Amino acid sequence: MADLRAQYQGLKAEIDRAVLEVLETAQYILGDRVSRLEARIAEQCGVAHGVGVASGTDALLLPLVALGIGPGDEVITSAFTFVATAEVIVLAGATPVFADIDPETYCLDPASVAARITPRTRAILPVHLYGQTANLSALRELAERHNLRIIEDAAQAIGAQHQGKGVGAWGDAAGLSFFPTKNLGAAGDGGMVLTNDAELAERLRNLRFHGSGGSYYYSRIGYNSRLDALQAAILEAKLGSLAGWNEARRANAAYYREALADTPLLLPREAEGNYHIYHQFTVRVPEGTDREALRAHLQAQGVASAIYYPLPTHLQEAYAQWSEGPGSLPETERAAAQVLSLPVFPELTVEQRALVAASVRSFFA
Ligand SMILES: Cc1ncc(COP(=O)(O)O)c(C=O)c1O
Repeated sequence: MADLRAQYQGLKAEIDRAVLEVLETAQYILGDRVSRLEARIAEQCGVAHGVGVASGTDALLLPLVALGIGPGDEVITSAFTFVATAEVIVLAGATPVFADIDPETYCLDPASVAARITPRTRAILPVHLYGQTANLSALRELAERHNLRIIEDAAQAIGAQHQGKGVGAWGDAAGLSFFPTKNLGAAGDGGMVLTNDAELAERLRNLRFHGSGGSYYYSRIGYNSRLDALQAAILEAKLGSLAGWNEARRANAAYYREALADTPLLLPREAEGNYHIYHQFTVRVPEGTDREALRAHLQAQGVASAIYYPLPTHLQEAYAQWSEGPGSLPETERAAAQVLSLPVFPELTVEQRALVAASVRSFFA
């Protein structure tokens, strides 16, 4: 589903030079390199501040904590996502409340969110799944009406836009992930919080460093969640390629859209006003089609596929106490049973994507 070796080979000279420079200067944690990356990513995303942290998970947890969201507070989120989205709400001490998704974008349905707002609701945590933003304008309106915070899970959506504005510009904060297979991936774990709020950015810098500015004075209980200079150097070496990679993903998606148009698959939809960066190209098999048989057919031709995510969070054992059980999120549950992601990564060759399309088509022939 990704070719990280091909990505490295394409930028080997720049990455190797950047890594060696860090080793030569021996400044490993935070420092100028991390600050420079924060500024560059913030600028590229059109927000004022970037705060590098240890992972995408921390890039969601720290803003919740920094905004004072904790015990007694409800946070409305999606169950159709990677587990970290709900995990951070629980880790912050708050209560996750699961709303259903829009079946076309797989992101939170604002109407379902509205129906779950209570006097205890403090925030909405939308997920920009597969590289497309949730309906941020509708969620923003809802948040303003009910005085709620928005923390965007943008782990899969660096460079995505809604109505011309990037992730992080709509909410109080957005969390990016640099997990190696993400559109901008490190050689290990890493993440970054984006925000337009200078005071929040300062609190996040403090929180990531044990609740201190780097002296041995601690103003709050914090975390050890710093981005290291080696990861920052590698990310900076790749950053100039990100826009082109996102465009290459979009071109692969456009190709599949045409090549698979006459199959019974439901193809992904780019909502009006959105710029989708296709972290995943996710199709949906029609009712009655055996998804596992399609996967096996693809595998037999050497074509990878993946299911993101087979069991929604509200049906996971660990989340039972915050769940209304099976049937409570019908669109989420239906999507989990039907989605299938096909390789869309930027290094995919013309021959490879043609093989993917031909293999899918031959299943339905
Ligand atoms: C939607 C979503 N949220 C959160 C995360 C957590 O990011 P990380 O793995 O960098 O902690 C990921 C990625 O794994 C993700 O895909």
